[in-house]
Amino acid sequence: MSINFRNFVAEICQEHKFNPIYMDSYINIKVRVWRQAGPKAKGYFETYELKHIFQGASFLEMMDILNEQLISEHKDPIAFDHDCREGICGMCSMYVNGHPHGPDSAITTCQLHMRKFNDGDTITVEPWRSHAFPVIKDLMVDRKAYDKIMAAGGFISMNTGGVPDANAIPIPKPAADEAMDAASCIGCGACAAACKNGSAMLFVAAKVSQLALLPQGKIEAKARAKAMVAKMDELGFGNCTNTGACAAECPKQVSLANIARLNREFLCAKFSD
Ligand code: SF4
Ligand code: FES
Repeated sequence: MSINFRNFVAEICQEHKFNPIYMDSYINIKVRVWRQAGPKAKGYFETYELKHIFQGASFLEMMDILNEQLISEHKDPIAFDHDCREGICGMCSMYVNGHPHGPDSAITTCQLHMRKFNDGDTITVEPWRSHAFPVIKDLMVDRKAYDKIMAAGGFISMNTGGVPDANAIPIPKPAADEAMDAASCIGCGACAAACKNGSAMLFVAAKVSQLALLPQGKIEAKARAKAMVAKMDELGFGNCTNTGACAAECPKQVSLANIARLNREFLCAKFSD
């Protein structure tokens, strides 16, 4: 007797509701979402049921399916931010089950997949909870505060013109590596959202470090550290008390060592006034 192996696997997968490629299954879930009609409106949680969600779907695809369901029921879809959907832009900022960017580590919400959840789960989704990131609608918050901090000093000034020679300014490999690691910050805001003080220190530290470590960033280093810290304080972000929740929740694993560097940069700048 001959057995068609492909048919045999397909039958087993169908029987056990597995996708034959990824061995993912289909699950029924409840999604408990923060709804808030506007910045001044009172927010509340609303729970929705979703059936037959493929675990290979991304979390945002699940949110899309939920929105299609709401639209088909003539209800207001859930507002949430997203753009690249590949962990680059930092827009998909939301709490999933109490964690910024969800229960997985070192990924953004758009990189989270439904295989992280089980059949029958209730998933709670909330916007960033931080004084400096007011809710615009539902899960969408205003993160302009980070843009303002960048505008205060997160840049270098130089003449434009032709592309300089690659080796015109030699940079030691360790410095280049550390600057690159700091530059991996995508400005998502998870650090401030995770911090019990609502501190933006990890973000500011990453942005100061990526320039302070390189020769091109040294010219304005003192003014930059002072201006960015002053803007952070002015915008209502809290103080850092070395709890480390920011680094624990950061999707790009930006290190706390950058905060130590920011403190050094800031103190040196103050002492040289
Ligand atoms: S330091 Fe991490 S958590 Fe904070 S904004 Fe940058 S990427 Fe997001
Ligand atoms: S949508 Fe761009 S990082 Fe998630």
